[in-house]
Amino acid sequence: MPMYSDDIIEEVRSRNDIVDVVSSYVQLKRSGSNYFGLCPFHNEKSPSFSVNRPKQMFYCFGCHKGGNVYTFLMEYNNWEFPEAIEELANRCGYQLPKREMSREEKLKQSKKVKLKNIMKDAANYYFSALHSNNGKMAMDYLTNNRGLDRDTIRGFALGYADGNWDSMYRFLKSKGYEDEIMKQSGLVVFHEKGPRDYFINRLIFPILDDKSKPIAFGGRVFDNSKPKYLNSNENEIFHKRNNFYGLDRAKRSRRGAYILCEGYMDVIALHRAGFDNAIAPLGTALTKEQVKKLKVDRDSKKVYICFDMDFAGTDAMQRAVGMLALCGVDAKVITLGEYKDPDEFIKANGSEAFEERINKAENSFIFSLKKLREEYNINDPEENNRFFRMMAGRLYVFPTEIERDNYVATLADEFNVSADSIRELMRDVAKNESELNRYKEGFFRGYTAKDFEEESETNDDIISEDMYENNSRRLSTAKMSKRGIMETEGILLTWLLDEPSLYNAISKYIDAEDFTEGVARDTAAKMFSAYEAGEEFQPAVLMNAFEDNEDHKRIAGILNTKIGELESNEDKEVLLKETLIKLKNEGLGRIDTSKPGAVKRIKKVKGDIRNIQSTRLL
Ligand code: GTP
Ligand code: MN
Repeated sequence: MPMYSDDIIEEVRSRNDIVDVVSSYVQLKRSGSNYFGLCPFHNEKSPSFSVNRPKQMFYCFGCHKGGNVYTFLMEYNNWEFPEAIEELANRCGYQLPKREMSREEKLKQSKKVKLKNIMKDAANYYFSALHSNNGKMAMDYLTNNRGLDRDTIRGFALGYADGNWDSMYRFLKSKGYEDEIMKQSGLVVFHEKGPRDYFINRLIFPILDDKSKPIAFGGRVFDNSKPKYLNSNENEIFHKRNNFYGLDRAKRSRRGAYILCEGYMDVIALHRAGFDNAIAPLGTALTKEQVKKLKVDRDSKKVYICFDMDFAGTDAMQRAVGMLALCGVDAKVITLGEYKDPDEFIKANGSEAFEERINKAENSFIFSLKKLREEYNINDPEENNRFFRMMAGRLYVFPTEIERDNYVATLADEFNVSADSIRELMRDVAKNESELNRYKEGFFRGYTAKDFEEESETNDDIISEDMYENNSRRLSTAKMSKRGIMETEGILLTWLLDEPSLYNAISKYIDAEDFTEGVARDTAAKMFSAYEAGEEFQPAVLMNAFEDNEDHKRIAGILNTKIGELESNEDKEVLLKETLIKLKNEGLGRIDTSKPGAVKRIKKVKGDIRNIQSTRLL
C-alpha cells in the first residue's frame, strides 16, 4: 500500500464500520447477519448486494464485486487508495500523518508516475486549446459536423492539437519535463533537426485507464488526409491490447451489458445518446486481453457487438463472436441496416431506434453463420459442402454436447437441413484434425478456453492414475474443473469463517498448501494462523495487504461461497469429507514430482485422505 503504514491503514479501517459507510451510498435492509441492497455496480431489480458487519466485508452475489470498506469507496467513486483513506480518516476524525516524503519521492521517481503526470498535463493542454480561440475550427467541427454538445466534449475530455510543429514540446518544457520523458510519452518525436510534436492539427481523444486517467491519445485529422487516426505509441502505461476506449465509464454503467463498437466516434455518439455502456478497441481487432476483461463480467453483463457494416467490420465481428463464444460470454449482434456505423445510425434515427435495435439483436453465433452463408453460392453443391463443414467445425467452440445440440437444432431450422446430418458432419470433421484446426483458427484464432483464464496455468496430470485410488466413489473423476476446485476451496473457507470451531476438527488434516496458489492459499494461511493462535480472523484486515481491488473481489468471493442447506449433522459430515478430499486430491495433482520433498508430501497427503475417510470428523 502506498504511503501509509499497515498499522495506520488498519486503524482507519477499523474505525469506520462498513455498514455505516456503505449506507450513505446504498440503501440497506437488514436480513439475518447481512444487510442487503441494490448493487451499485450492476443493474438489478432485486437486491443481491450484501454487507456483513462481523466480517466487515461487502459482496455482490450477482456481479461478484466485493471487498472491504476501502475497496467499496475506491470502486464506487473510481478513487485511488489515498483518496479512500483520506475520506475515511476525515470521517472518523483521525489525523493522518504527513505522507513520508522519502517514499513519495521514490514513487514520483518511478517512470509510470512520470508518464501519467505528463499525460495528464498534455490532456489539460489539448483540452484548453480546444476551448481557446485557436481551437475554434476544431470546436466547430465537433459541434456542427459531429453534433456533440459541450457536456459530451468535457465528459470525454476531447482536445485539439494545433497546427504548430512544437506547441506541445514548448508547453512540456515550460512545465519542467525532460526530453527523455517527452520522448517516452510519445508526445514529442526527436528528429535530427530537433523536437517535433507527434500530434499536429488533430482532434484529440484521450484514452483513459480504468480510473479515468489519461494514458495515451488518439488524434484524428479534420479532412480526408491519411492516416485518419494516429495513436500514441505504447509504453509502460499504455498497451492498446489491454484497454478499451470508454471502458472506465462503461464499467460503471447500470445497463447489464456492454456495447462493443469499432470507433472512438461511435463510443462518443452512443454515450451521448444515453448508451453509457459503449466501448471500442483501440484501433485493433479485438484482442485476447480485451476478451479476458469482458469475460470477468460475463455473469452480469452481456456483450452487444455493433461493428461497422463494411467488409472489415464483418470480418472483425466473426472473430469477436468466436472468441466471446469460446469463453462463454453471452454475445449478440446489433445490425444497422443501411447505416455505416452506430454514430451514423443514431444521427439519422435517434436513440429510441437504437434501443429497438438492441432489443432485436441476434444470437451472435447464429448471426455470424448466416452472414457467412451469404458468401457461398447456394446453388453450387461444392460450396454448400464447404459451408456446412465449416459450420460443423465451428460448433466445437461450445464445450458441452448439450450446448452444441441446442445450436444444432436451431441451425438445422435456419439452414433447412436435418439435425442428424449436422451431427454426422461434426463427427466427420472431428476426424480430420488439420481441417478442424483450420476452422478454429478462422473463427477464434485457434485459442483455447484456457488462454482466457486469469492465470492460464496448466494443471497437467503429472501423477499417475493410481494417485486417485483413495477417492471416494462420489468423486471418482480424476480431473476436476478449475471452477470446481475454486468453489470447493470457497466452501471450506466460508464455512470455517462462519464456524471457527470447525477448525479444531480438521486442522490435523489440512494446511494452506492444500489450496491453490494465490489469494485462496493466502487467505487460508492467514485464517489458519489466526485460529492456531486462538484469535479471530478478520477478512477485512487481510484485504489491506492486497493492493489490487481484483484480489479483494476474489477474497470476498471465496468467503461468500454458497454452501447450501445442511439439514442434519450427517449432511455436514458428508459435505465436509467430500470437500476435504477434493481439496487434497487437487493438491496432489499440483505437487511437482521433480522437486525434493515431493515424495514425502505425497505420502502425507495420501495419509490425510485415508484418515479423513476413516475418521468421524464432527
Ligand atoms: P469517424 O470516421 O470520425 O466517424 O471515426 P470512427 O471512429 O468511426 O473511425 P472509423 O470507423 O474509420 O475507424 C474505426 C476505428 O479504427 C477508429 O476509431 C480508430 O481507432 C481506428 N482507425 C481508423 N483509421 C485509422 C488509422 O488510419 N490509423 C489507426 N492507427 N487507426 C485507425
Ligand atoms: Mn465513424
